[in-house]
Amino acid sequence: MISGRGSNLQALLEAATRPGYPAEIGLVLSNVAEVEGLARAAAAGVETAVVPHRDFADRRSFEKVVSMRLEEAGCSLVAQAGFMRVVTPWFVARWRDRLINIHPSLLPAFPGLDTHARALAAGVRLHGCTVHFVRDEVDQGPIIGQAAVPVLPGDTPEALSRRVLAAEHRLYPRCLALVAAGRTRLDGERVLHDGGAEADAQLIVPAEG
Ligand code: GRF
Repeated sequence: MISGRGSNLQALLEAATRPGYPAEIGLVLSNVAEVEGLARAAAAGVETAVVPHRDFADRRSFEKVVSMRLEEAGCSLVAQAGFMRVVTPWFVARWRDRLINIHPSLLPAFPGLDTHARALAAGVRLHGCTVHFVRDEVDQGPIIGQAAVPVLPGDTPEALSRRVLAAEHRLYPRCLALVAAGRTRLDGERVLHDGGAEADAQLIVPAEG
């Protein structure tokens, strides 16, 4: 599920073409027409759908159609990649533990928008991104993986955002692969990785490389 540029989507599309990758991208669904992400999906030969949220009277009726399109495409797992709508508890329950999201901060720090400017204003020395299972509260939920990057002297929100985005592109395909391969399980609201230390290490992604 996307709303725009789709650079994380691009990372997932590329990962999915690698031999042995445990997920296939069955549908790219956008709530906004004519965004770059849709062109990326089309270029990769992946089916696309546009479900404009503005066409619906309320969130629930929008989400019912979204859910139906995902089911029709045979999706068993949903990855939000720059999807800029808050989903309702109904959607979260419908896709419980099969709905993941990427957020540009080291959660639980800086949920919400403008994370890079807020991280700079707070003076943190480390910033990064998080892939997590979606729960009712926005930008909360069991953490699947995180990647940290340094905050450097003189950073602007734009410079920091570029550094984090590069980490997002490394992190998201790894997290999606573990979930798709059934190598994650929940212990309460904590994610355990089957495969132990090796799988855990894959999900603390180094800043470079
Ligand atoms: C990313 O920073 C993602 O973490 C956030 O929205 C941005 C989307 O970028 N949720 P892109 O569309 O994947 O390029």
